Amino acid sequence: MNSPVMQGLNLETPAFVKNARLIAWVADMVALCKPDQVYWCDGSKEEYDRLCQQLVDKGTFTKLNPAKRPGSFLANSDPSDVARVEDRTFICSHKKDDAGPTNNWVDPKEMRATLQPLFDGCMRGRTMYVVPFSMGPLGSNIAHVGVELSDSAYVAVNMRLMTRMGKAVYDVLGVNGEFVPCVHTIGAPLQPGETDQTSWPCNKTKYIVHYPETREIWSFGSGYGGNALLGKKCFALRIASNMGRDQGWLAEHMLILGVTNPEGRKYHVAAAFPSACGKTNFAMMIPPKGFEGWKVTTIGDDIAWIKPNADGRLYAINPEAGYFGVAPGTNYKTNPNCMASLKQDVIYTNVALTDDGDVWWEGMDGEPPAHAIDWQGKDWTPQLAKETGAKAAHPNARFTVAATNNPALDPAWDDPAGVAIDAFIFGGRRSTTVPLVTEANDWVEGVYMAATMGSETTAAIMGQQGVVRRDPFAMLPFTGYNMSDYFQHWLNLGKKLEASGAKLPKIFTTNWFRKGEDGKIVWPGYGENMRVLKWMIDRLEGKVRGDRHAFGISPSYQELNWEGLPFTKAQFDQVIDIDLPAWEKELQLHHELFQQLAHHLPSELKETKAKIEQRLAA
Ligand code: OXD
Ligand code: MN
Repeated sequence: MNSPVMQGLNLETPAFVKNARLIAWVADMVALCKPDQVYWCDGSKEEYDRLCQQLVDKGTFTKLNPAKRPGSFLANSDPSDVARVEDRTFICSHKKDDAGPTNNWVDPKEMRATLQPLFDGCMRGRTMYVVPFSMGPLGSNIAHVGVELSDSAYVAVNMRLMTRMGKAVYDVLGVNGEFVPCVHTIGAPLQPGETDQTSWPCNKTKYIVHYPETREIWSFGSGYGGNALLGKKCFALRIASNMGRDQGWLAEHMLILGVTNPEGRKYHVAAAFPSACGKTNFAMMIPPKGFEGWKVTTIGDDIAWIKPNADGRLYAINPEAGYFGVAPGTNYKTNPNCMASLKQDVIYTNVALTDDGDVWWEGMDGEPPAHAIDWQGKDWTPQLAKETGAKAAHPNARFTVAATNNPALDPAWDDPAGVAIDAFIFGGRRSTTVPLVTEANDWVEGVYMAATMGSETTAAIMGQQGVVRRDPFAMLPFTGYNMSDYFQHWLNLGKKLEASGAKLPKIFTTNWFRKGEDGKIVWPGYGENMRVLKWMIDRLEGKVRGDRHAFGISPSYQELNWEGLPFTKAQFDQVIDIDLPAWEKELQLHHELFQQLAHHLPSELKETKAKIEQRLAA
């Protein structure tokens, strides 16, 4: 403690922190990271305002015009730090097989040796923020606590919007409570007298590391989103999927919504969609014309923790308390509730700044501004965009906003008991082959459909159009252990619930993205997806029979409510038809996936594939 950088460092722990392991761990991390100061966050509004003002003073935040966006800020990241870095994300289990073929694996001893010199002194010249957070309602038996140590005030203020963060978490932790330790650094230490030359310091070298056995997260070099807000993908999915496997519950990349029919009966649905498939829009959907008396309410938009209860049902909570959503493409047509959520108290990252101090992104309603400052701080005009293709907002530009801003927030969103799930939906993005909606025959066949789901890449994203990337359960980048063991965990849970006499949730798959011969997507999507959701509820209530086919049950044309939408039987056939040659090819791709995942692949999935092949041949 005598080194010059440690001089004056106040290591005193505030009286409200009583957890012995936490206090010892922070001391160890201070010795390793060597920050100039340690700041214990209390989660208060006063603290949030103060840290936001500090970020404004440093140039990281621009305060937006209070007459346009009260209480809101804009941050522009470094152009090299704009998204999750999947190729720098590691699952460091003791055995390689436990990470499986879909994860990057490094031996934990080797990774610790690599990280040690990177973290040694990584916070020099900076403040270490101690950020205590609860994933899930405080004290819920489905919730868990984490503590993030970060040298980024941007992270601290975002965590206050995204999680239940602050003093009350220390109370939950008490003297002996468990927490997941999360260490985050931007990896940009300052030498004595040195100041930042940029408003978004970070490091070209990045590591997003998970040790599943010891439940630790270490993140180096990035300040952005899922790389830095460690409660989200790192804890709530990668580490929590391990906890769920060991403890008999599920950590899923799913929205949770409530849907109430005109008779007043309410159901809860959890739905998994890969990125860029309209998940936030579905979670906040407003029923269209023809659906008077129906109501959709949001419990969560990205992640669900789901636990079996003594009554044999699966109860879900949203571990998060805010939304970190993609701004471009969000408008009053695609997601009116989201636009209403974004009116105030928002942190925007990498959208454009208009001349009147407001924000703008591609796809926002109305005319683009005549001039704006783009996400890289350069002048932007519609003319320039036409000539050079320059984007005002980065395609992965984000908003961070508290869930309580959402006008469609479900009253039970913060209920420690969670909500009982009636149905699961798995949705891919496929221009061919996969029908608009299918109900699986049973749990095992539903798991098969989820395990084999895929998404087509678009030219805009991957440069190569129409390539199907398998994304089992929309969890490809998020399952923190062997994917085949994850399938087995789902199968085991189904078996256990069935054995207890419980009625299992129905499992559906959807595909909003089938294209016609003209190359255009046929299904109108967005609020019109309510028509499909209603059919699912009708199935739960036994009101409709559907048509049985080789994979399960899909609606007949007459079973959907078409009031308010001109959509012909011929159009419907285009999105619901089963093209046998296409499915033969599809099953070949399932075969290839199963070869890749052969280690521990559950025999039930191979048997289901054989069953489907037989039905197709019949
Ligand atoms: C997200 C993602 O940010 O899935 O939610 O990438
Ligand atoms: Mn997501």
